[in-house]
Amino acid sequence: MKRVQSYTAPGITVTFDPNVCIHSKECLASLPAVFDTRRRSWVQPAAASVAEVAAAIDRCPSGALKYVLEDRTEPTPEQRGGEVETTIQTSTNGPLLVKGAFQLLDESGKQIVSAGRAALCRCGATENQPFCDGSHQRVGFQSKKSPAV
Ligand code: SF4
Ligand code: FES
Repeated sequence: MKRVQSYTAPGITVTFDPNVCIHSKECLASLPAVFDTRRRSWVQPAAASVAEVAAAIDRCPSGALKYVLEDRTEPTPEQRGGEVETTIQTSTNGPLLVKGAFQLLDESGKQIVSAGRAALCRCGATENQPFCDGSHQRVGFQSKKSPAV
């Protein structure tokens, strides 16, 4: 397992878990001043406002990026109109994206993830089950269109 990285700026601490990143690059696209893999320290939270950094992290589909606010008066994703119900969404040629309040348990019933978001592998090629690790791109996984309900 790779170690979880931590980056602190006034008002916010950002953590990144490389073990569950699905390499969707949404962070790089949404806030390139803060997220840039060409730099040695690829997350620089001081390069934007706390609200901008938090909003960009809320769009991370896997939960690899998380944040803790120093000022707890900042609105949570739920208060900003974010997810209040739990959803599981298929992604084209990629993982199942889980959002909202949920518990993910292992075979023995031990909790692996308690809430927030997660990207679960459905191609079978991940080396970090049950999470997607981006391997679907390497193996050229092709999802079938979900049947209409
Ligand atoms: S999964 Fe999250 S951290 Fe990984 S590239 Fe996508 S947005 Fe960035
Ligand atoms: S769906 Fe991403 S590694 Fe399997």
